[in-house]
Amino acid sequence: MRNIVLFFLTFFAFVLNSCNNMEVPKKQSEEGTKFMAVDLFPTSERPVGQKDVIELRTEAIDTVRIGFIGLGQRGTGAIFRYTNIKGVKIVAICDIIPEYVDIAQKRISDANLPRADEYAGEQDWKTICERDDIDLIYVTTNWMLHTPIAKYAMEHGKHVAVEVPAALTIDECWTLVNTSERTQKHCMMLENCNYDFFELTTLNMAQKGLFGEVKHVEGAYIHDLRWLNFAENENDFTGYVNNWRLEQNANNNGNLYPTHGLGPICHILNIHRGDKMEYLVSMSTNQFGMTKYAEEKYGKDSPAANREYKEGDMNTTIIRTHNGKTIMLQHDVASPRPYSRLHTISGTEGFAQKYPKTGIALEPHAHSYVSDTEFDSLMLAYKHPITKEYEEKAKEVGGHGGMDFIMDSRLIYCLRNGLPLDQDVYDAAEWSSIIELSIKSVENQSMPVHIPDFTRGAWKKNLKVTYYQ
Ligand SMILES: NC(=O)c1ccc[n+]([C@@H]2O[C@H](COP(=O)([O-])OP(=O)(O)OC[C@H]3O[C@@H](n4cnc5c(N)ncnc54)[C@H](O)[C@@H]3O)[C@@H](O)[C@H]2O)c1
Repeated sequence: MRNIVLFFLTFFAFVLNSCNNMEVPKKQSEEGTKFMAVDLFPTSERPVGQKDVIELRTEAIDTVRIGFIGLGQRGTGAIFRYTNIKGVKIVAICDIIPEYVDIAQKRISDANLPRADEYAGEQDWKTICERDDIDLIYVTTNWMLHTPIAKYAMEHGKHVAVEVPAALTIDECWTLVNTSERTQKHCMMLENCNYDFFELTTLNMAQKGLFGEVKHVEGAYIHDLRWLNFAENENDFTGYVNNWRLEQNANNNGNLYPTHGLGPICHILNIHRGDKMEYLVSMSTNQFGMTKYAEEKYGKDSPAANREYKEGDMNTTIIRTHNGKTIMLQHDVASPRPYSRLHTISGTEGFAQKYPKTGIALEPHAHSYVSDTEFDSLMLAYKHPITKEYEEKAKEVGGHGGMDFIMDSRLIYCLRNGLPLDQDVYDAAEWSSIIELSIKSVENQSMPVHIPDFTRGAWKKNLKVTYYQ
């Protein structure tokens, strides 16, 4: 018995002593352990003399003169749309593949419009940016050229519209922001999904309070692109020129194409208009789909089946905002499954989702979706004024069902009226920044990574997204 008592006394003395020796920082013992998101890309001060471009208004342009750079799958579609938009002039067109320039020129002549000046040299985009008879440079090249062209264009006095994603790295995001602020030129990323019909309607619903306080949103780019990434015929629009997109998937692992899912929900959350994205965590599955596809298409011994593809099939990224909202974002271009951008909105009063099943649910019956009849009447009642204005022509001209035409029409309308654009350079930087930030998080076991404030504090200036009319 005495031995047992002695054993317990010794044991408690040991435990007490160990506790006394433990180094518990005061903050931890009072508030619990805190691990902060890693600030991998600290924000530097805004250079002296440079000012923010929140709600940037520039001189109204009567006829917007445009230079188009990159005339592949996306660029030729853009040319067609612009032949249907009033108040523009297609001044110059450029691609390194002369046949693509011919196709674009034919689209212009088919619309009985004057021929555009043609360029086909690797560096000719510089010459176009240097011209003094162009107002807007429209960039639809591969991702790697987006920021270099956008920067050069702004530095040569042009506004810029650049395809998604506008930038590939945080460094490039800052290049866009700093160049736009320094030159006071517009830099709009062409995020067309913000203009889709359900997206615009739900933006209007959110702004009118139908969902109450929106607290959680979801977006995605789930699109089986294997047939395009592994296409063989480079010159017949069935693949990406020089397989640039396959190389991006081979060399990076994260959310490589975040903006289609993120754009519409960031506007619903008023990001950098009273709230801001603060940090993210990101996780990828292993890669399975690309190798399997390459094996089936080219054989197990083929180089395509035996090389490395870093991009995990499904990447899931979760973002928390300053005001305590969450965003779930997914990316998968390598799985046989239906297309989805999710577009989910969850608020204190209701819910909406576009994919996989389009529906709305509202209190006090939010346990189930509203009936088809109620859905139709809600869609009509909350139709966005912009949709009302453009939908008829948009459906006629097309471009992803019409949203591309609405996007282009809005860009031109704002430029012609000297209005702030619907999407500014901070949107472009924030939405594109998820690429490198998610890559860093995935590389480090989903480490929380801080999201830079590209507005450098100006996110509090306005409290709501406005599409000016
Ligand atoms: N918003 C959307 O819905 C949507 C849809 C498809 C593609 N995109 C984006 O559009 C962009 C283009 O995609 P795509 O599918 O048309 O690719 P693509 O490969 O078909 O087209 C890119 C074009 O850029 C040209 N190019 C390359 N280097 C050039 C240079 N130095 N000067 C001039 N032209 C050059 C290529 O020859 C090619 O024709 C990408 O950023 C992509 O992410 C957006």
